Amino acid sequence: MHHRSVSDASRSPPELAVCGGPPAFASPRYVGTPGIPDRATLHARLDAMLDARRLTNDGPFAREFEARLGELNGGVEAVAVCNATIGMQLLLKALGVAGEVVLPSFTFIATAHACAWEGCEPVFADVDERTHVLDADSVAAKLSDRTAAIVGVHLWGRMCPVEALEALAAARGIPLVFDAAHALGCTHRGRPMGGLGTASVVSFHATKLVQSLEGGAILTADRDLAARLRLMRNFGFAGYDHVVALGTNAKLDEFSAAVGIGSLDCLERIVARNRANRVAYREALDGLPGLSLYEYDEAEDNNFQYLIAVVDPARCPLARDELVAVLHAENVIARRYFHPGCHRSAPYAARPVVLPVTERLSERLIAFPTGEGVDAADIARIGTILETACARAGAVRHALSEGRRARLAA
Ligand SMILES: Cc1ncc(COP(=O)(O)O)c(C=O)c1O
Repeated sequence: MHHRSVSDASRSPPELAVCGGPPAFASPRYVGTPGIPDRATLHARLDAMLDARRLTNDGPFAREFEARLGELNGGVEAVAVCNATIGMQLLLKALGVAGEVVLPSFTFIATAHACAWEGCEPVFADVDERTHVLDADSVAAKLSDRTAAIVGVHLWGRMCPVEALEALAAARGIPLVFDAAHALGCTHRGRPMGGLGTASVVSFHATKLVQSLEGGAILTADRDLAARLRLMRNFGFAGYDHVVALGTNAKLDEFSAAVGIGSLDCLERIVARNRANRVAYREALDGLPGLSLYEYDEAEDNNFQYLIAVVDPARCPLARDELVAVLHAENVIARRYFHPGCHRSAPYAARPVVLPVTERLSERLIAFPTGEGVDAADIARIGTILETACARAGAVRHALSEGRRARLAA
């Protein structure tokens, strides 16, 4: 238990920005601030790309990036693509998935959109309250004669209940694929996550642990599937003028691949920073009533790219949305992931379904800035802001409703 010193407690707390004070931070602190690769090395790679005039089409940087990703994932095939959403679409298409797809609602909307875009019907299952990933019992209850695939999401880098989902998929002879957008560098039973299921899709969006500006990759141990995906991402071309399959343009360009390689080079540095930030947040949030840090499975490798806390409305003097509003006013751009949940978002809300755990989490969860965009001093300040806000909950609530009234009147 962390006890703040008497001198800390007796010092008058800062005026909160929601109550008229200046913001604690002059510039915004964001969730998902990109880690920046070594600039000199990146510039050299970009010079090589420009000198060779090889800008895309399965170039040397895309191939090197794929090789490095495969290595990091226990020797699987890695098929680099322009982003993870298109990667998931390509994968579903390559597997011939048609019909219902069971997936969590508690995920970024892209997971559901990729299924719907491919003409499948997303069927939302609930998640586990502690781990935030698919609850296998809920998945089992959602299976039907029309179920064509299960899509698990390794949310916050936490593995789904892999064995239970594998058993459900195997019993029906349907593929189990993973949205592993958050999970690069994470393990399942000590082994890299890339070999799990039929295939997994990772994202290299700018907010991710490894970023290539935009980008993604499909990881699979199935070499035939990888070969099909490589054809499909390049219009179905098997050679000059030789189209052998339906395809699209899902290629990763050389600029993005060069950034991705540089980003892979600093993966350990960013994970170390995320881990240190987590220690600082634990200290900063300790003693705050009703705000608990999401716990990872310490027996596995985690990338700690997401700094998640859950608000208990029975114990916290302020609601989640009030805390987020307080933080935004201070230039701390905390996020309400994933609000309101896919099943309550367009276009899926038209078909009502009740998912109690997803609904609770989407009303209670806060993602805080971590990565190289914040340091221990910033995090201590964020802790002081939250502590002050909770201590003056009445004044904060009043200021927020006055602000709302003024905005409505304007
Ligand atoms: C869980 C999840 N799935 C899919 C995506 C989509 O990835 P991309 O932006 O690379 O298409 C993201 C984030 O962007 C994500 O967080």
